[in-house]
Amino acid sequence: MAFTIAIDGPAAAGKGTISRAVAAHFGFAHLDTGLLYRAVGARLLEGVDAVEAARALRAEDLEAEGLRTPAVAEAASKVAVIGEVRQALLDFQRAFARRQGGAVLDGRDIGTVICPEAEAKLFVTASAEVRAHRRWLELTGTGHDIAESEVLADVRARDERDSTRAEAPLKPAEDATIIDTSELDIDAAIAAAIRAVDQRKD
Ligand code: C5P
Repeated sequence: MAFTIAIDGPAAAGKGTISRAVAAHFGFAHLDTGLLYRAVGARLLEGVDAVEAARALRAEDLEAEGLRTPAVAEAASKVAVIGEVRQALLDFQRAFARRQGGAVLDGRDIGTVICPEAEAKLFVTASAEVRAHRRWLELTGTGHDIAESEVLADVRARDERDSTRAEAPLKPAEDATIIDTSELDIDAAIAAAIRAVDQRKD
């Protein structure tokens, strides 16, 4: 059986945690598609052409160290505006989505561009301040020395770039269920996501 759950939303809205929990709940495989763009962004920082890097990307590149840094996130959102990069990453994502046993993909354009036929679509969001605070806790918790105001500025700059780009801008699919996690703790957010998928399964 193939069943695709598309989970989109801006940076640090809780998408990753929710996606992993939803995948575990239904026993589905999970792909964090941001890692594809991060892996290409990391190659760009090494001086490799972004389109070449996207075409040469292998599954094991997603396991590379250091893909979670703010510098790589910034580079990822820059390579993500390049149409040829997005095109090169399309087949990998579509094949993953239709694998047997079900798949959860999280990203920015899964419900709109990559898998418009997904059986369930969620759009997970939260205010920029709440998202910056969460990301700041995460970064300082893993030893990064960074001011919260700087994280907020990064979140806003990435939101702006992701939602105004011509190629696959960040926006909810028309048939997506919106989950605003600003005032939800993680358990409540996961429960809301599972409920939304259950409604699409019937
Ligand atoms: O989700 P994450 O923060 O890892 O994504 C890094 C960057 O990759 C995003 O800011 C966005 O520009 C890009 N991205 C994208 N489409 C996706 C996933 C990520 O454009 N499906």
